[in-house]
Amino acid sequence: MKKLSYLFLVAVIACTNSHAQFGRPGGADSAQRRKTQDSIRQLTEQDHQNMMDQLHITSIRQGANGNDPKAPNAANYDESKANPFPNLPDPLVLKNGKPVTTAKIWWDKRRPEIVEDFDREIYGRMPKHIPKVTWEVTSTTNEKNGDVDVITKKLIGHVDNSSYPGITVDIQLSVSTPANATGPVPVIMQFGFIFPGGARPPAPPPVAGAPTRPAGPTTPSWQQQVLAKGWGYAIIVPGSIQADNGAGLTQGIIGLVNKGQPRKPDDWGSLRAWAWGADRAIDYFETDKAVNAKEIAIEGHSRYGKAAIVALAYNPRMATAYVSSSGEGGAKLHRRNAGEIVENVAGSNEYHWMAGNFIKYAGPLNWGDMPVDSHELIAMCAPRPVFISGGEKGDGWVDARGMFMAAVAAGPVYKLLGKKEMAITQFPPVETLADGDVAFRQHSSGHTDVPNWPTFLTFAGRYFK
Ligand code: GCU
Repeated sequence: MKKLSYLFLVAVIACTNSHAQFGRPGGADSAQRRKTQDSIRQLTEQDHQNMMDQLHITSIRQGANGNDPKAPNAANYDESKANPFPNLPDPLVLKNGKPVTTAKIWWDKRRPEIVEDFDREIYGRMPKHIPKVTWEVTSTTNEKNGDVDVITKKLIGHVDNSSYPGITVDIQLSVSTPANATGPVPVIMQFGFIFPGGARPPAPPPVAGAPTRPAGPTTPSWQQQVLAKGWGYAIIVPGSIQADNGAGLTQGIIGLVNKGQPRKPDDWGSLRAWAWGADRAIDYFETDKAVNAKEIAIEGHSRYGKAAIVALAYNPRMATAYVSSSGEGGAKLHRRNAGEIVENVAGSNEYHWMAGNFIKYAGPLNWGDMPVDSHELIAMCAPRPVFISGGEKGDGWVDARGMFMAAVAAGPVYKLLGKKEMAITQFPPVETLADGDVAFRQHSSGHTDVPNWPTFLTFAGRYFK
């Protein structure tokens, strides 16, 4: 590849989310875009193969097909076939078989065991030394959102790249707080679908059966609902931390720490990198007098719903999360055969979200061989409140029931820590809140976070002053 076009590709991978589409359809831009996407695809396949080689795996099982119900590998939606591995690891039994009977045993022994398993096998480890981030406020604007006067700060988190100047990582963040606030306010931070220059990508193309989100603005927007509570909102741009494709794994924060080399099987993937970025945003919030850094919620939808639950689980300063349609790789039990399955996430389109080791569970191992499952990811959030959400019509891919089951199975840990598990254990009717400090609600729409915002904000309001 010529040097110039390689540099262009590097820049595009670094700031491209696989959802992003830009340029005019049909024109020279679109030819260039196709070329870029082909190159990303190629580099991604190479990186995926490299990881397979490191794992000594020659092939993995095929993922579920969410587009064609007649396909031999069509996604399963028959509940009688959805639980081939019904036994979950017990979050309250130590590896040595002893029961976890006190909060102290949970914190000192059992939680670290669970964290180690997630680190090694599922999401990957964060490196011991990650370069420092220096936040720069690039603009402060007084503006109106609806009727409310807000102060919006745009920020760049410059990651120190003196160890490997070939890779630059500049984290993009914006935070808006009510102009008339009399003190620091809670902030809801979203993993946002926003791109450099402020352009919003169109709705994502249907990937492997995931329905597109319903188009059109909603009134009031989630930001306006947040302002109505007297709170602030923030948006962090995941693609500015780590690209949303396998080609990008030798760039972004993961590539910077690895000095441009491919990952090892237990290195972190994009979900943990995005969660790390959100944690750096909290570093900044701790210095901003307009923000109550002890009352930060993280929100994300779909792949960013996965990032949101990973962020809450791993970042103890995060107060709560709205986890929307996170599905496989998020709150859904990996042991479930419903909608998207492990094999899809282990494939070359999505493996970059996870540790390389995750691929093993799509062959030669199976889901039941995982030392942990997602109920224990939710348990890692305890005792902090978490709100888990999915849609009904057309959101089957994310397996709302599998997420509900995980939330139920996390309950005993909440209880041990003096908090409320969900009040019900039977899958609730649509639009019925399964309430507790771990809570679940399935809205009646599709693949979207819009309908559950009011319920989440009421939920968060119980905890934020
Ligand atoms: C795909 C993928 C899901 C993911 C979704 C999204 O459908 O299979 O795991 O959540 O994209 O992020 O939009």
